[in-house]
Amino acid sequence: MGIVNGTTNYILTKMDDEGVPYDDALKEAQELGFAEADPTADVEGLDAARKMAILARLAFSTPVDLNDVEVSGISDLELTDFQYGKKLGFTMKLIGIANFDNNQVEVSVQPVFLKSDHPLANVKNEYNAVYVNGEAVGETMFYGPGAGSLPTATAVMSDVVSVIKNKLLGVNGHRFTKPRFEKVLKKPENRYGQFYFRLHVKDEVGAFTTISSLFNQLNISFERILQAPIKPENRNELAEVIVVTHETSLDKFKKVLEDLQNVEVVEEVKSYFRIEGDVE
Ligand code: HSE
Repeated sequence: MGIVNGTTNYILTKMDDEGVPYDDALKEAQELGFAEADPTADVEGLDAARKMAILARLAFSTPVDLNDVEVSGISDLELTDFQYGKKLGFTMKLIGIANFDNNQVEVSVQPVFLKSDHPLANVKNEYNAVYVNGEAVGETMFYGPGAGSLPTATAVMSDVVSVIKNKLLGVNGHRFTKPRFEKVLKKPENRYGQFYFRLHVKDEVGAFTTISSLFNQLNISFERILQAPIKPENRNELAEVIVVTHETSLDKFKKVLEDLQNVEVVEEVKSYFRIEGDVE
């Protein structure tokens, strides 16, 4: 798992710690020189996806490419979810996840609610970190600045020095890069996670029962449920409901999301996020 983009980590830290709105935080990140010239690649997760594809190839020796990475960015995140996250003990981060077991691989980049005691939850501002759980070694983490003029200059110079050294050694372009494993992408039914949903629900008798039955039918159990009335005028017929599930498979998550979007009692699924953080 990794935080591999400095711009988005800077923006999310500002939103989470100081309640700064997204647009202002992005502007600050641009002024500090963290963002790419066009920040779309940062905020939509593409820069992080490229890095995760490279890391997954190197780590698992399987030919993952960018098209295999499921990506979603941070440009439509709302401060409301950060506030609920705080109540629930979560920190919002743009997380790259790469997982390889039974010779099957999954790679994704998305905003994730991290349990606040996870080592990556304390990686702040433009800092990046890659958290590796190795079969024998257990937990390891590599940490440092991920954007900014001097860190970028250091990375560029390091590559230039490598090229010169390899040229002198006569080994440029001879690196062994053939992957050891054929690429087999993990199916949704073999991918697991916990999920957070924020729903706008009609404030009427039986609404809760209807929602619970959608989850029950799929055998998804709840870890937490919160309900709060919606404040702004004309919205007094609605309630805001937060559901945190126990671990379930990705196919069941997708199915329950579809059911929630189609059931009459739910006016809108405002947001949903993956939750990560139990240290293995
Ligand atoms: N724009 C990138 C970032 C720079 O914010 O992480 C380093 O890739």
